[in-house]
Order: sequence, then C-alpha cells, then structure tokens
Amino acid sequence: MILAKRMSNLGTETAFEVLARAKQLEAEGRNIIHLEIGEPDFDTPRHIIEAAYQAMKEGWTHYGPSAGDPEFRAAIAEHISKSRGCSVSAENVVVVPGAKPIIYWGITALVDPGDEVIYPNPGFPIYESMINFVGGKAVPAPLREANEFRFDVQELASLVTPKTKMIIINSPQNPTGGVLSREDLEAIAKLAIDNDIWVMSDEPYEQILYEGEHYSILALEGMAERTILLDCFSKSFAMTGWRLGYGVMPAELAAAIAKLQTNCTSCVASFIQRAGIAALQGPKDATRAMVAEFKRRRDVIVDGLNDIPGISCLRPRGAFYVFPNITQTGYSSRELATKILEEANVAVLSGTAFGEYGDGYLRLSYANSVENIQEALRRIKELLTQ
Ligand SMILES: Cc1ncc(COP(=O)(O)O)c(C=O)c1O
Repeated sequence: MILAKRMSNLGTETAFEVLARAKQLEAEGRNIIHLEIGEPDFDTPRHIIEAAYQAMKEGWTHYGPSAGDPEFRAAIAEHISKSRGCSVSAENVVVVPGAKPIIYWGITALVDPGDEVIYPNPGFPIYESMINFVGGKAVPAPLREANEFRFDVQELASLVTPKTKMIIINSPQNPTGGVLSREDLEAIAKLAIDNDIWVMSDEPYEQILYEGEHYSILALEGMAERTILLDCFSKSFAMTGWRLGYGVMPAELAAAIAKLQTNCTSCVASFIQRAGIAALQGPKDATRAMVAEFKRRRDVIVDGLNDIPGISCLRPRGAFYVFPNITQTGYSSRELATKILEEANVAVLSGTAFGEYGDGYLRLSYANSVENIQEALRRIKELLTQ
C-alpha cells in the first residue's frame, strides 16, 4: 500500500505499543503490573455519570455547534477565569474530544511548512509528531534532571530564531512530573512577547499538583493574545474514555479551530458536554481524594525506587509520573524497559519514548494501587540485584 508522503512524518505514543505487548503477555497467562498507562485508575465520579444519563434522556443526542454548547463554553470560561486568575469569555473557548485535538488543530492552524516550534524534550510525544506532520521544524528544548526537569530559560532563548512560530510548554509535566515556576513562566512570556511567538500551554495536570500553586502563562500580561491553553477532563475527573477537552485562545483563532472541527468531527457528543458542566460546577471531593491518594503513592514509589541499586529518582511536584535515572544500572533505557516487562512482568516506558533527552531514564505511572506499586518495586529490585 502506498500511503501519502505526509504519513511518514507522523509519530505515535509508545505507551499504546507497550500496553499491547503487556496485554499479549497477560493473554499468555502472565501477571503483569501496569505502570505504563497515563490514566487515573479511579472511576468517573457518580454525579458526572448521572448528568450524562439525564442529558441523554432529555434529548441531548443531536448535533451541536462545532465550537461547543454555549452554556458549556461559558462554564469553561468561568472555570478558567477563576482557576488561572484571568478574564476569559465563552468566545475564547472551543470544546473538542480530549486535549489532543487542540495540539493537532492549534499547530495546523498556526504553523506553516518551515516554521520552527520549540517543544519540551523529554515531552509528550504528540507535540513532535504533529509539528513534523504539518511540515514544521521541531526544535527540542531539553529538560534536565539537574534543573528539576524545568526549562533552562537562557538555553530556551538561545533556540529562538526569526522562524520560531511557537513554544510549547507543559506544567505539571508528562513524563517527568516537573513543574515550571512563576519566574520561569515570566521569562518565557517575555521571550514570546519580544519575539512575537505563540505559546501553547498544555495544562491537563493543573489540578494534580502536590505543593504550591498552579500558575498559567495565560494570566500574564500581554499573553492572552498569543496563548493557546489546553486542558481536559481526562485526568482531573478520571474521564479519559469520555474524550472531553477544550482550548482557550483568542476568539479569531477559536473560530478557525471550530472550523477544523466542522471538517473533522462536527462537534463533541452533546450529552457529554452536559456532563462536563456537571463536572465543573459539581462537588470536587472526588478530585481532591484522588490527588491525595496520588501523593501517597508518589512517596511510596519514589522511596522504593531510591532503594534499588543503580536507580535514583527525584520527588516530582505534580502529575502522576516518576522519571527515575537508571544510568548506573548499566542498561540503556530501552533495554531496561524491555527487560523489566519481559523478565519482571512490570510494564514501564523507556525515557526515549518521550524524546532523545529522555535517554538514561524510565517513566513509571503511579496510577495504580499502593499494593501493586509495592509489588512492582519488589520485582524490579529482585531483577536488578540478582
Ligand atoms: C501532557 C499531555 N497532554 C495531552 C494529553 C492528551 O490528553 P487527552 O487524553 O485528554 O487527549 C496527555 C495525555 O496523556 C498528556 O499527558
């Protein structure tokens, strides 16, 4: 089969490939512990499910506007204005299926072939994939352990050229759990304003933060007209399979993204958008309990990893991932990830699944029970001390 040439520029998410291999091993009778998946192991809170049922019964089963249900867009605008400390209105919001379409469509709408886009590396692999897909030049900005996986802002500035169209940031971060400080965001905002650059701020882990406050670059002066904020219900409300997310951006760009949606998916399922209103306006105790449990697990996994010879691990301040340094084990990241799955029955990801600067690391998701995390740590320790 001869696919269109552009398909050769499309990357993927290794997590789905490792998941497939782990499922295959399970089908062969192995007991696998899953630490590869980036999704909460909690169920969607009951009141959100009830709201979706109710909406279906009330007839929210038809097409809706491509930019989203006006009441839901207004609820998102209110949520962002309050949570990020800025003034956003419904016309700035586009509702899409998950956070991913904003990455795809935001880049499609703004990046011409040859334009440069700076992105975090290690980082969510879809950024690099989509930049390459539209013919842009993907420019990696290294995130280093020595800097707690935050950008080195001077290094970031050195990557800017007259062709730089966009900088992508993600805090709290996947895969490292790193969090950008307010000073980091101020420096990035200055860079963007001085050089007339767009910022795509990917914030799906905004509520999964264990210390300090979440800051968004959107709230900084002069940034509203050059920022695309994206967020979703996947992580904070344990709604990965619902496919519900949104972007916040200047109204003219929001209209362009809605047009892309008209061409692709038409709109997000109407009853799911009604459930989104219930999520934003209903009780938040389930989210709070989930974050408290993630924090407990973070400490178990960080302490356990630091107790394994050859492995050292920072204590991340956000998201539900750890990114341990494995260079002292003598294995490459890829070798060790494969060995841990095949020989210790624990599914983890190689740091290189998130870019070349992830070499020397693994990514483990702690969206699993404390019992399973402890058993996984026992298996990995046994493998490495044999
Ligand atoms: C940093 C980051 N951005 C975007 C997404 C995509 O989220 P969604 O599943 O809502 O499309 C993820 C999912 O893992 C992520 O980690």
